[in-house]
Amino acid sequence: MELNILTLCYLIASVTFILGLKMLSNPASARKGNLVAAAGMTIAIIGTIFLYESDGQKLHNYGWIFGGLLIGGIVGTLAAKKVKMTAMPEMVSLFNGMGGACAALISAAEFYHIYKLHQDSPGTPFSDIVSVGTYVTIAAGAIIGTISYTGSIIAWGKLNGRVKDFSFKGQHIVNMIVLVLVIIAAVWVYRSNIGDMYIPFLLIGFFALIYGILFVLPIGGADMPVVISLLNSFTGVAAACGGFLYDNKAMLTGGILVGAAGTLLTILMCKAMNRSLTNVLIGSFGAGNKAAGAVAGKSSQGNYKEISLADAAMLMAYANKVMVVPGYGLAVAQAQHTCHELEKILEEKGVEFKYAIHPVAGRMPGHMNVLLAEADVPYEKLLEMEQANDEFKTCDVVLVLGANDVVNPAAKNDPASPIYGMPILEVEQAKTVIVNKRSMKPGYAGIENDLFFQPKTSMLFGDAKKVLQDLCAEVKAV
Ligand code: TAP
Repeated sequence: MELNILTLCYLIASVTFILGLKMLSNPASARKGNLVAAAGMTIAIIGTIFLYESDGQKLHNYGWIFGGLLIGGIVGTLAAKKVKMTAMPEMVSLFNGMGGACAALISAAEFYHIYKLHQDSPGTPFSDIVSVGTYVTIAAGAIIGTISYTGSIIAWGKLNGRVKDFSFKGQHIVNMIVLVLVIIAAVWVYRSNIGDMYIPFLLIGFFALIYGILFVLPIGGADMPVVISLLNSFTGVAAACGGFLYDNKAMLTGGILVGAAGTLLTILMCKAMNRSLTNVLIGSFGAGNKAAGAVAGKSSQGNYKEISLADAAMLMAYANKVMVVPGYGLAVAQAQHTCHELEKILEEKGVEFKYAIHPVAGRMPGHMNVLLAEADVPYEKLLEMEQANDEFKTCDVVLVLGANDVVNPAAKNDPASPIYGMPILEVEQAKTVIVNKRSMKPGYAGIENDLFFQPKTSMLFGDAKKVLQDLCAEVKAV
């Protein structure tokens, strides 16, 4: 009976994961989706703690279990409350690494468990005791989880600036060799006798740790979110291996969903940047490319012109249609609420007001959607890139707020640019473009932006929040 209740708990958890994921696809329901999935996970955890039985025995080490839950719960809650929106990708990466480590430890524990059960027969080959399927699941969980762990920690360090991009000649060959060594160690374990398997099993972990580091170290710049998403899918697959091992349906469903969602997100982000995954993984979007782009940008730049707050306000107040392009700078300035304020003031004056959202604007997938949803901007006002590109020609004013790379025409016109081929918001189709940023410094990709030097473009320098506050006051006065 109890086992059935536990199965029911897992079924409820699996359904809530699917519902939660579905709800996450819309900003209006995303928060609720997260809560629904968390509730399902809570049911699965509580069910496992109190109802799980193995060989007629229930779990008894409650001190360890609740101690771990308490420490993890406190650390997780404090970290989530403290984290700034701009540091969210770092935190996602760090938490993902913890998930990978957990999945790897589950495999290690299961490996130890098998050893304990058969420690009295030291000469027996491991392959006589464990089926290939079970062993592959253990080894895959250990390898993928460990790679995800070290890869995510390096990604975390890179995003917060503690770890610098690093690559050397022939690195991809070295990476391949390390990966082959991981596989050799895994085969060695399976061919070893009980009692002799420890060293090769530790070698699996060691080489997988090294591979995770080497694989992420050379990747940089705008490719980091793709790697984080890929590592996220690794963690999902590693967790699914744990689900197979324990025949735990909730873990299996959760792992498969995370694995599939991470893979799809990786593909979608690659498409948004017009880069293949291979190109991201071995292309090292880094220093060399940036330099080439910067030189190309400089040679084609001319003079830029500035616009005063009063003139910008006048242009917008008398426009029929204004479109805002939000970018990373808007998030840094935390100016989303003031931007919504400007939207309301202009709409009261009869101006049509919309937002053009680039899929990789900001520093994480969906960054701008989350930011604007936080300020209660109605979701219908947010146009996806394709829609926005169709509508720019009907706009009197496009106001670029702290965005740079996502409006850089070099992506279309300059084959030497590292962002060449990345789809962009073609703001230059509008009658007038006003760009707000604090200086002429480049954006994330480190390259010049020709848009700033075009005759239609005027620069409005200053912190986005301050500029928007002043614009609100000026527009009200028009
Ligand atoms: P960026 O190209 O990084 O440009 C942001 C601009 O905001 C900067 O040029 C900066 O110029 C300005 N800025 C910074 N603080 C500001 C403030 N307080 N007020 C006003 N402006 C401010 O941003 P983007 O256009 O959103 O493009 C995103 C880039 O990041 C792309 O290259 C993308 O591939 C990459 N990326 C994306 C993601 C995802 S998944 N979204 C993750 C990582 C990287 P000043 O310093 O002159 O003010």
